[in-house]
Amino acid sequence: MTSVGIDAIEIWTGNLELDLPGTFAPAKGEDPEKYTKGLGLQSSSFPDSYEDIVTMGANAAYRLMDRKGLEPVDIGRIDVATESAFDNSKPVSTYIAGCLEDVFEGDFHHANKGERKFACVAGTQSVDDAYNWIRAGRNRGRAALVIATDTALYARDDPGEATQGAGAVAMLIDEDPNIVELSTEQGYGSADETDFLKPQQQFPSVDGKRSVQVYLARMREALEDYESVAGDTHPDNFSYIPFHTPFPGMVRKAAALGYRNVIRDTDVEDTLADEIGRQPRPEAFGDDDAFLEATKEYTEALTETDHYQTWYEGTIEPTLTISRSVGNWYTGSVHVARASALQHALENDVDLAGEKLLVGSYGSGAQAEVHAETVRDGWREEIGALSIDDQLERRYSLSFAEYEAIHDAHNHDKDVETTELTTPEHEFVFDGWGRMGERKYRFVE
Ligand code: CAA
Repeated sequence: MTSVGIDAIEIWTGNLELDLPGTFAPAKGEDPEKYTKGLGLQSSSFPDSYEDIVTMGANAAYRLMDRKGLEPVDIGRIDVATESAFDNSKPVSTYIAGCLEDVFEGDFHHANKGERKFACVAGTQSVDDAYNWIRAGRNRGRAALVIATDTALYARDDPGEATQGAGAVAMLIDEDPNIVELSTEQGYGSADETDFLKPQQQFPSVDGKRSVQVYLARMREALEDYESVAGDTHPDNFSYIPFHTPFPGMVRKAAALGYRNVIRDTDVEDTLADEIGRQPRPEAFGDDDAFLEATKEYTEALTETDHYQTWYEGTIEPTLTISRSVGNWYTGSVHVARASALQHALENDVDLAGEKLLVGSYGSGAQAEVHAETVRDGWREEIGALSIDDQLERRYSLSFAEYEAIHDAHNHDKDVETTELTTPEHEFVFDGWGRMGERKYRFVE
């Protein structure tokens, strides 16, 4: 069977940075530890006034194609996943293809282009679409370019403002991939939920506390569905478990729930029984509330054990490093988590080839997806080529007044004059509006 998966990856961050404990928390009159300890965030990325989902996506794709020596003729499909689209008809992928055609020889006239929407899970769905297209043998030897790009901005003073971010991830999906091969087995947890939505509006309507519960409920369903096709999972089977990361504190909760589920009836539950007892079973309780309370207590005790903490430090914590510095990138977030884990392995000289990852994606509204990935021999070279650390280092750090101005600059309902805070270099920039209201772009050398 043909091996299909992620062959290459590039990450592009917005060029601005907001220090959450240092700048945002004091301006909001909040304790900085809410950010560092509670949400698990240090800073968030923002787009400068000349950046948007097209420039960030095109810049990530440009770097990827340039580094891999690809030309448009090598790409048979361009799918963009975003929940920040500005056009209900013309997909972002056409804008990005237009940008790329300005700098590469040839064109994408025979590539299928589209835009995927299901909140943050759309990035993984686009990877799926590309995987299926290749496995169906419809790709004519060509690869697919999947770009997850978002400006995750919330209305000012919405609790979600703490978790903003902006950036793009470009992935090349191909046969015989260098980074990871995807499993055919997948699990889904999907339900009609009203937790986070943007009904014809730029900034989301969010029921934040509920969104956390919906994330956990759908992720548990997806994990159970995955196990129903792939067989029981065990924590020791996976080197890393990247989750969708709206903020690291969310993953802390998801990891505890996932771990509790997969250790049930295993040697791990037996080993921990002396210390914290066995997991509550529903049949031992008269009502749901008592069972849920007992489960909550067991989970809290579980996360205090050395056993759990060692697993968490090794398997989950490394997936969160980049996220702590960039915030939520919506569709790109789980793909940033995977890259973060692989960077950790590279820096620590871990031999990952042949090892497995379990990937948990999530989109509000709501749907979770779980699948496994097998790390391929070429992962070191690909991950070693990432420039995200340098990019993060180069970001311009915003004062609170500058943050307010840049938030206004990206607010579609406001018409404000803003000056650039950074100087674009070797990247695509927004270049004003065309006669039909289209956005125009140019490449700055
Ligand atoms: N020291 C240490 N910890 C502190 C603290 C302090 N001084 N102050 C607060 N905290 C902790 C809190 O206890 C809490 O942690 P727990 O949940 O583990 O108890 C955490 O910091 C956050 O504090 P609050 O709950 O008080 O924060 P909040 O009311 O401002 O809201 C939020 C948090 C609901 C996540 C909000 O930021 C939000 O609405 N975010 C957007 C929605 C979101 O990201 N939801 C996630 C699931 S949906 C999803 O994943 C899709 C997506 O990408 C949007």
